[in-house]
Amino acid sequence: MKNKFAERARIVKSSETREILKVTERPEVISFAGGLPAPELFPVENLKNACNAVLDEEGAASLQYGTTEGYIPLREAISHRMKGIGINSTIKNVLITSGSQQAIDLTGRLFINEGYTIICESPTYLAAINAFKSYDAKFVEVVMDDGMVMEELEKKLNNHPDTKFIYTIPDFQNPTGRTLKLERRKRMIELANQYDVLIVEDNPYGAVRFAGEELPPVKHFDTENRVIYISTFSKIFTPGLRLGWICADETFIEKYVAFKQTADLHTDSLAQRITAKYMEIYDMEEHIKKIKAVYKTKCTEMMRSMKEFFPKNLSYSEPEGGLFIWVELPEGIDSTHIFTECLKNNVACVPGTPFFPNGTQKNTLRLNYSNMSNEKIIEGIKRMGEVLHRELEKELTLL
Ligand SMILES: Cc1ncc(COP(=O)(O)O)c(C=O)c1O
Repeated sequence: MKNKFAERARIVKSSETREILKVTERPEVISFAGGLPAPELFPVENLKNACNAVLDEEGAASLQYGTTEGYIPLREAISHRMKGIGINSTIKNVLITSGSQQAIDLTGRLFINEGYTIICESPTYLAAINAFKSYDAKFVEVVMDDGMVMEELEKKLNNHPDTKFIYTIPDFQNPTGRTLKLERRKRMIELANQYDVLIVEDNPYGAVRFAGEELPPVKHFDTENRVIYISTFSKIFTPGLRLGWICADETFIEKYVAFKQTADLHTDSLAQRITAKYMEIYDMEEHIKKIKAVYKTKCTEMMRSMKEFFPKNLSYSEPEGGLFIWVELPEGIDSTHIFTECLKNNVACVPGTPFFPNGTQKNTLRLNYSNMSNEKIIEGIKRMGEVLHRELEKELTLL
């Protein structure tokens, strides 16, 4: 048979992280590779109660088709959460999506024509790169330290007047764990207004801050309704229910609704009702507090172990929330080789290269601390440390 696939089937390959995850599923491997929440934090018993209540009280409705916009009580609860973080919204501004990944994909469908430019952090979230690539986007990367460097962003906006939107993950970014400074949030809005571009603020981790001061989302400073805010229940509740949302101007939401209809009609009715019921019966904020406390301990344990076991000439981010630490190896060290050597030692991380949309930087690694026990974190970092010491010394002798 001749090739029947559309052109975009060549562009989009199965995510390298997903491929890596397959290898790391071996039980003997200590994995810092995925971005999975801690399973012991899923509120299984309370979810059973919420699920039973939904099926008892509104069984048929929860198994019926629903509206594309989403279940109203859940949209109300989200709108309430949005107000709590400084985003004024009503349910008309909220669309429930099947995970925030669907929101990202719909954003690509809605705003990107072939060859359109997107400005993003360098590095950025791999599955967003792949989603936007499937719509033939071009990526312009902006260097980051505490979030995007605004002088660089301005230069890029100047050099790329065809830019459609800035894609940013301001809080505890995936993959770096870094956070955009307050002043830069305001400046990003000023620049977006000046250059008339949209901002897509992808914020799955903002609610998982375990240290430092709370910062308002970029959308809080939005004076012209040009920020499309995307978030999710995946990191504060459970990823398996696949519930995310978009909070944006009504005119955007109407278009998203039209596109979502063609994708899946609506998000899982039962999952939406169970989540709304959970929030009615239980205190979601208390649950998130537990998550933060556990991640704080895990992150502290990983940082402490890295200081003890890793070579001294590495630099790494020190996150105040979220799930990830970013490691920068000396120039010339290929993190894919480090990954392969680590796997021989039954420990896994993710090489950083795929997180750079234009594929340039090779000496970085992403580590996840949310999914392993404290004991495994210490043991895994020790094993990685052995590999890093050995490989860095080899490199030195070659110089
Ligand atoms: C930055 C970012 N955006 C979006 C997502 C997608 O999350 P979900 O589809 O589970 O809501 C993730 C998942 O890890 C992420 O890291």
